[in-house]
Amino acid sequence: MRVSEAITQRRSIKRFRDLPVSRDNIEALLGAATLAPNHRLTQPWRFYVLGPDARYAFGLALGNRKARKIEDQEKARTTRENVAKEHRALPAMIAVAVVQNENEEIREEDYASVMMALQNLSLVAVELGLGTHIKTGAVMADPVARASIGARDGERVVALVNIGVPADVPDMSRREGASTFTTWVP
Ligand SMILES: Cc1cc2nc3c(=O)[nH]c(=O)nc-3n(C[C@H](O)[C@H](O)[C@H](O)COP(=O)(O)O)c2cc1C
Repeated sequence: MRVSEAITQRRSIKRFRDLPVSRDNIEALLGAATLAPNHRLTQPWRFYVLGPDARYAFGLALGNRKARKIEDQEKARTTRENVAKEHRALPAMIAVAVVQNENEEIREEDYASVMMALQNLSLVAVELGLGTHIKTGAVMADPVARASIGARDGERVVALVNIGVPADVPDMSRREGASTFTTWVP
């Protein structure tokens, strides 16, 4: 598959088939991620491949945050449990962290590099017949969520990536043509 085809075919996949993702495939995705450009070769990415127990624990942390906004205690309990179970049922999930450099300029470069690594991962997933969904949000800084991942001190969790064989591939989301955002400077 050409890179341009993988770029065109990639979607955020919300539903996966009930099929496992092999360790070889996970390693291929991570291998591609670590080939991303990174200034000063800081290799700032850290990957946590979460098994079912860790996914459940992360889901519980996320579910707890959602449940806090629900007044009805029974509904809150069901929400918490459902989110945890949904996460446990995912075929694969990787938490992605960046090592926090003390220098602000390097921190920004390193964050950018980790996002480039995520793009590599997402595109190679397409080539392997897999789908990905990158997720972010305040939960990434939640101490309980961090503990479920095993994130180390000095690392910032920047994304969770769900991975699996797509059950549905949505249409491409509406995009403006590049010319809308482009200025040709003489
Ligand atoms: C840095 C980043 C963070 C994202 N966070 C979320 C998220 O928290 N929840 C979510 O449903 N999708 C998230 N997405 C997926 C985007 O919503 C998605 O890329 C966008 O809707 C375009 O759809 P597409 O990826 O299928 O082209 C994130 C994507 C990126 C790149």
